Amino acid sequence: MAQTAAWTALRAAATQDSARSIRSLFDDEPERLDRLTVEAAGLTLDLSKQPWSLGGLSAALDLARDARLDLARDRLFAGEIVNVTELRPALHIALRAPDGADCRANGEPVSAGIEAVRLAMEDFSAQVRSGQTGGVTGRPFRSIIHIGIGGSDLGPRLVWEALRPLQPEIELRFAANIDGAELAAAVTGLDPEETLVIIVSKTFRTQETLANGIAAKAWLEASLGPGKADSHLVAVTANPEEALRFGIAADRTFAFREWVGGRYSVWSAVGLSCVIGLGWPVFRDFLAGAAALDAHFCGAPLERNAPVLLALAHLYNRNGLDRPVRAVVPYARRLSLFAAYLQQLEMESNGKRVSAGGAVLERASATSVFGDAGTNGQHAFFQLLHQGTDVIPVDFVVMAQDHEGPPSHRDMLLANAIAQAEALMVGRVNLDEPHRHFPGNRPSSFILLPRLSPETLGALLALYEHKTFVEGVIWDLDSFDQWGVELGKVLAREVLAELKGADSKGHDPSTSRLIARLRDPVAGEQGATSPDRDPRL
Ligand code: F6P
Repeated sequence: MAQTAAWTALRAAATQDSARSIRSLFDDEPERLDRLTVEAAGLTLDLSKQPWSLGGLSAALDLARDARLDLARDRLFAGEIVNVTELRPALHIALRAPDGADCRANGEPVSAGIEAVRLAMEDFSAQVRSGQTGGVTGRPFRSIIHIGIGGSDLGPRLVWEALRPLQPEIELRFAANIDGAELAAAVTGLDPEETLVIIVSKTFRTQETLANGIAAKAWLEASLGPGKADSHLVAVTANPEEALRFGIAADRTFAFREWVGGRYSVWSAVGLSCVIGLGWPVFRDFLAGAAALDAHFCGAPLERNAPVLLALAHLYNRNGLDRPVRAVVPYARRLSLFAAYLQQLEMESNGKRVSAGGAVLERASATSVFGDAGTNGQHAFFQLLHQGTDVIPVDFVVMAQDHEGPPSHRDMLLANAIAQAEALMVGRVNLDEPHRHFPGNRPSSFILLPRLSPETLGALLALYEHKTFVEGVIWDLDSFDQWGVELGKVLAREVLAELKGADSKGHDPSTSRLIARLRDPVAGEQGATSPDRDPRL
């Protein structure tokens, strides 16, 4: 089988390359830096510090060709059913396509509907920002509590942190976790009369989000009066019927479609809080940045295609060299949530052990991703990156210009990023003092943004979305389902019932003892507003 031969060739190339140092490849391959540096939608990717030789790169490209990546990409953009276990397209690219596009989801035209929702978001945000639309007492909204979890949280939270003004006119707070401490922190100091609560859930059935939504509504009503919170509540969902059942009317609901995956949904009405907080033009530019990357992904040849090359570099480490972990270090405080965002994007998309067709995979799939902003990470986990027993490839994300604060801070930040990538690769020999010996030969990618703007942020997120897609195609799995999250949800419902006094369904001894120990004898006496008592949960 051609595909198997391509895998064998990749493995052989990687084994050969592992006998050479990355540094030496620059001497042996004069065109290496140019061949492994690509531009895409304003971003620059330098993949020359990755462990592949140009021969290894060519083996990786063959693998992509053999997987018929071109056809898979065409199917994605054509809105064909690529999420085969849920029988859905994955058409997030339609959400950021320019006005007038003609995107189709499984044959159905969807662009007009998307543009109508964009217009509604633009109108509503303008009304809220101008104070024309305010709360029940007529006061303008000064703060938004965005309630949602997973894909209904991580993208908007990242966008807000990345682009928020230092002193915003409208403050955004986020509540995802069912830990009551999260909502308590979100509401602290806010005036209910000036607070808009946006409940974001694709399904509108997620336990944490409904519980936090109910508690937030109770917080509003405690101050505004019973039944007086309606004008302070907005829903964003692909399931408006459930939102209605929750008590949010259709004219206060912004919809998106079921073919938008949660972790790919920031481009949809899920971004509404950011649209209000940042203003429509910022969000429009964010969409445009992603659309520019989409155009690059569709148009650039494989060997100059940024998401393809980034995927192949990661895959070379994963499948060629058995490296199961990757670090992501943005040298930008404003991107400190990037690793958390990528954890869902990559690990929920590709953390699979069976193929799209259900066969057990013959090869390893997604890497574990972790990280934090540089330089903070340098003073925490970089010790292991430099001298640990495992080789952990790093993605550096760096902005060239427009840094906040004194120029000297910018220079120090950039110097640290560049130096760390160099240190990881070249190391430093010290045979006399083993503790001071740096083995080097540790790979990294360097992703350079001219500045952190709505456009570059959009392009950066789209870059990783498509690189995740490329990996999924090559691993032959369904990147758009997430069955692995279901079992825990089911068991949590059972355990919850038992914590509240229901008979045990029978568990292993450890679980049984934990339930017995944590069963709260006063749980049944909680107040009527407790989310636990709501029949919808
Ligand atoms: O449990 C995982 C998950 O389904 C994610 O895929 C999703 O982003 C998140 O929960 C939230 O789901 P929803 O938007 O339906 O509340």
